Amino acid sequence: MKRREIICLLAMGLFSYTSSAHAEEPSVARGKQLFYDSGLGTSKNSTNCGSCHPNGEGMEKAGTKSGLAEMINRCIKGPLQGEPLSEESVTMESLIAYIKSLEKK
Ligand code: HEC
Repeated sequence: MKRREIICLLAMGLFSYTSSAHAEEPSVARGKQLFYDSGLGTSKNSTNCGSCHPNGEGMEKAGTKSGLAEMINRCIKGPLQGEPLSEESVTMESLIAYIKSLEKK
């Protein structure tokens, strides 16, 4: 194999590595999935956000309020009996993105 071909393969490997790292970015789809995940915040019970907010009901204005992350953590610590999430985590940012996406409906 020629040296150029090897470099090319390395570049392709690097590209696929960075695009899989891309999957770790917050997204609405991920947030929606987490919203129905009973293990959120290492929760041990079977409650998830959707248990009380089915389809995000009643949260159409939540995305416009300040302190959204604290509110999410309050619901994680309370009903889910889980550990609060870091506000910079992909999990928290995805939940926020999902809740904000409910606004437009
Ligand atoms: C046991 C029921 C219950 C569960 C489970 C629950 N919540 Fe809540 N949530 C409430 C109640 C009650 C309120 C306060 C009343 C209200 O403002 O709707 C609230 C309020 C909120 C608000 C603020 C709404 C607003 O307009 O200010 C957000 C955001 C929220 N919850 C997100 C979540 C998320 C995310 C989860 C999952 C981690 C979750 N909740 C799980 C009961 C629950």
